[in-house]
Amino acid sequence: MRIELPSRRSTIRLARALAGLLAGGDLVVLAGDLGAGKTFFARALCRALGVPPVLPITSPTFTLVHEHEGRVPIAHADAYRLGGASSDDGVLGAATAELAHLGLRERRGEGAVVVVEWGEPFVEALGGDALLIHLAAPADPAAPGRAAEIRATGERSRTVLAALERELLS
Ligand SMILES: Nc1ncnc2c1ncn2[C@@H]1O[C@H](COP(=O)(O)OP(=O)(O)O)[C@@H](O)[C@H]1O
Ligand SMILES: [Mg+2]
Repeated sequence: MRIELPSRRSTIRLARALAGLLAGGDLVVLAGDLGAGKTFFARALCRALGVPPVLPITSPTFTLVHEHEGRVPIAHADAYRLGGASSDDGVLGAATAELAHLGLRERRGEGAVVVVEWGEPFVEALGGDALLIHLAAPADPAAPGRAAEIRATGERSRTVLAALERELLS
């Protein structure tokens, strides 16, 4: 599914729609270049999942994982420093091993929603079945904002995506 996000507000609306459909154990992977809006989307998603506005939601670039408590627990991670932007097999292999130490797959089993920026190369290591949201500037450089391309890599994520499509089209 492709959706245009001409404004920050439209991105927040998408995050709210998705938040209403997510359950503990779901994996949301955010892809796209630096500045594409991954952290912005993750923050909007956390807010929509009920993380109180007084609690800061920042980029876990250096800390790798931030835990938040909304209506479900949320683990917000950033795999950039592990090599999530790399296409080198050696780098990705080492990164996958490091990522395993973060315990994100286990957090899913414990009922957390896991949100991973730069996580596309690690979907299988994270337990698979991801809702993969690719954020980018729209194809027309004159168009404002961003566009999102959303894919599902498993049965549960396909169910979530189908419901999201229904909701956004209604
Ligand atoms: N439609 C939009 N959706 C999301 N972010 C947008 C949009 N338009 C502009 N932005 C801005 O783009 C920036 C994205 O930064 P950030 O979320 O940190 O990127 P990333 O985590 O992908 O590196 C934010 O400053 C945000 O305000
Ligand atoms: Mg970020």
